[in-house]
Amino acid sequence: MTALALPLNARGKVRELYDLGDALLMVASDRISTYDAVHPTPIPGKGQVLTGLSAFWFERTAGLVPNHVLSYEDGVPEEVRGRAVKVRKLRMLPVECVVRGYITGSGWKDYQATGTVSGIALPAGLRESDQLPEPIFTPSTKALEGHDEAIDLEGAVAAVGDRSLVEAARDASLALYRAASEHARERGVILADTKFEFGVDEQGALVLGDEVLTPDSSRYWPADGYAPGRGQPSFDKQYVRDWAAGSGWDKAPPAPAIPDDVVAGTRARYQEAYELITGEPLSAWLSRTGAPA
Ligand SMILES: Nc1ncnc2c1ncn2[C@@H]1O[C@H](COP(=O)(O)OP(=O)(O)OP(=O)(O)O)[C@@H](O)[C@H]1O
Ligand SMILES: [Mg+2]
Repeated sequence: MTALALPLNARGKVRELYDLGDALLMVASDRISTYDAVHPTPIPGKGQVLTGLSAFWFERTAGLVPNHVLSYEDGVPEEVRGRAVKVRKLRMLPVECVVRGYITGSGWKDYQATGTVSGIALPAGLRESDQLPEPIFTPSTKALEGHDEAIDLEGAVAAVGDRSLVEAARDASLALYRAASEHARERGVILADTKFEFGVDEQGALVLGDEVLTPDSSRYWPADGYAPGRGQPSFDKQYVRDWAAGSGWDKAPPAPAIPDDVVAGTRARYQEAYELITGEPLSAWLSRTGAPA
C-alpha cells in the first residue's frame, strides 16, 4: 500500500483517494480483487495500466461527456506518477452505470433464468457471449459492503432521487460504450460490457468520474477467436477469477495468495490490453507522466 503524506479521504479495494483541498488525488494500487475480496498478492504494474488506460479513454471521450481529470503531473507526487491522477471532487451517484453489448456474466445468468436483464426483455434463443441487438443499460447499486445488486432504471431513479440525472447518465453511458466499442473493435478487441461511475459537480452538472474502460471495470475479449455459445478468453480479471473459482477457495474473505504463474499471466494480459487498445507500449505512458523507473 502507498502511504502518502496527505490526508486520506477514502480507501477502496483497489485505490486510495487523498484530499488535496479543492481536488482529490486518486492513486491506483497493484491490488486485485475477485468476488469482492482483495488478494494478498499484487499484480505489478496493474495500477499504471488502470491509470494509463483510463487516461486514454478520458481524453478520447472528453467531447462526449465532461470528466473529472485535472492532471497526471501537477499536484501528483513523483512516487505515484503513472498510477495517480488529480481529479475534481464530485458527489458520486450511488449507482454503477453498466452497459452491456454482449450477453455474459451475471447478465447471462439473468437471461437464462428470466429472458430479461435488469427488466429489459431480450430476444429468445441468445447463446452465451452473443452480441445483443442493441447495447443495454443495466445499472446496479453501489453497495458499501458486499456485492453490488442489479437494479432496473426505476431502481436507479429511486436510489439517485433524480430521474433526469439518471436518464442523462444512461444516455452518456450508452454513447460512451458505443464510441469505445467501435474504437476497440478497430484494434481487434471486443468490449463486451463495462461500468461507469458518474458524479455531479458544484453546478449540478453530470461528470464522468472514477476509472473508465479498464480491464477492472470492463470485459475485453480478443476479437480473434470470438465464438458465441461459450465463455470467451479475456484481457481482464476473468483470468484471475477463473483461477480463483477453481482454486477451492469458498469466495469468502480472506482471498488466497495468487501463484506466480497466475500473477505473470494476469500482468501480461493487463499490459497487452493497454498496448492493443492504445496502440503504444505502456512505457510511453510511464515516460509521459514521469513515472519512477
Ligand atoms: N471524482 C471523484 N470524486 C469523488 N469520489 C470519486 C471520484 N471518482 C471516483 N470516486 C470514488 O472513489 C472510489 C474509488 O475507489 P475504489 O474503486 O478503489 O473503491 P470502491 O469502488 O469502494 O471499491 P471497488 O471498486 O473495489 O468495488 C469509489 O468509491 C468511487 O466512487
Ligand atoms: Mg471502484
